[in-house]
Amino acid sequence: MRLLPLLRLPLLLPRPPSVSPSRLFSTPPAAFSAASLSADPCAAAHLLTYACGYPPSSFAAFLSPPAPLPAAGDPPREGWEEEFGRLLERHGGGEPVQYLVGSWDFHCLAEIICRAPVLIPRPETEQLVERVISSLSSSPSSSPKPKRLLDIGTGTGCIPLAVGASLPNVEATGADLSPAAVALAGENAAKFRGQMLPGSSFEAVLCAAAELRASGLAGFGVVTANPPYIPTATYHTLEPTVREHEDRLALDGGGDGMDVTRQVLEFCASGNGVECELHMELDEGQPGKVLEACKRYKGFVGGRAWSDYAGRERFVEIEWSGEKGEV
Ligand SMILES: C[S@@+](CC[C@H](N)C(=O)[O-])C[C@H]1O[C@@H](n2cnc3c(N)ncnc32)[C@H](O)[C@@H]1O
Repeated sequence: MRLLPLLRLPLLLPRPPSVSPSRLFSTPPAAFSAASLSADPCAAAHLLTYACGYPPSSFAAFLSPPAPLPAAGDPPREGWEEEFGRLLERHGGGEPVQYLVGSWDFHCLAEIICRAPVLIPRPETEQLVERVISSLSSSPSSSPKPKRLLDIGTGTGCIPLAVGASLPNVEATGADLSPAAVALAGENAAKFRGQMLPGSSFEAVLCAAAELRASGLAGFGVVTANPPYIPTATYHTLEPTVREHEDRLALDGGGDGMDVTRQVLEFCASGNGVECELHMELDEGQPGKVLEACKRYKGFVGGRAWSDYAGRERFVEIEWSGEKGEV
């Protein structure tokens, strides 16, 4: 989960442009900025594409001169100038582009639905997805027998949906304690149902991590989680665009940032009851603590931390035997 600033524009924004969209499509980035549209042409290009009613993929044409005109000839949507102006204003007030345009690309999923306050999928999480896919592809049990996957804190459903759209025979369940997240994950499940590979599926359920065992959910060969991991004391240091628009539940992980992480470990160690692999995305510094905490459980077989592309140790993968309880 990247907690760096999402695409945003300065607080004070000019009026919308008075040039036509097709003219903008052929405008070099320098002129695009010179047109006082934005200090962040990338964000403005997404918003302009959306306001014009063009396909999201055509946004790049605003940034790569001399622009071929993917939508040239297509008239922009009626009222695009006013819409663009409104979007720029809201973005200038800190609203993330992803919420304004209502979708974003994640891994192999084009335009996964995004809606406040459910956490916007971050690029680092694609690394977690890649690791899960590679692990399941190489595991000896990647046979026609379905692999059951549980994603704890599923948000938009991005992790299980991307895995199920990349591998066959993955029966995934996503649990979240936020009704807004479960509703959105359900919408995304319907949207991407046709993209799931044969035998793969995804359903979202309303359930807190600590309640999984009592709810009867168990027997998963793969568990994934990108839990809230920011320590409460540092929550206020997050970018306002994150803090004011994304759900605190998705970010604030309690005193040391590891409250939900411990519940995930407890589930694998005592609730799940079968051999499984756990893949988690965490904050820097947490993977080592997690591996240490696992030593108290009988079912802990082994694990290792690994780093994101920036070299920060942000992920952990852990094997569990299915034996229950503490040492
Ligand atoms: C960091 S977000 C991750 C969302 C999504 N998996 C992703 O990677 O984009 C954490 C998610 O965990 C959920 N969550 C927070 N506390 C939880 C708990 N105790 N039990 C289950 N889900 C929880 C939040 O509602 C949020 O959707």
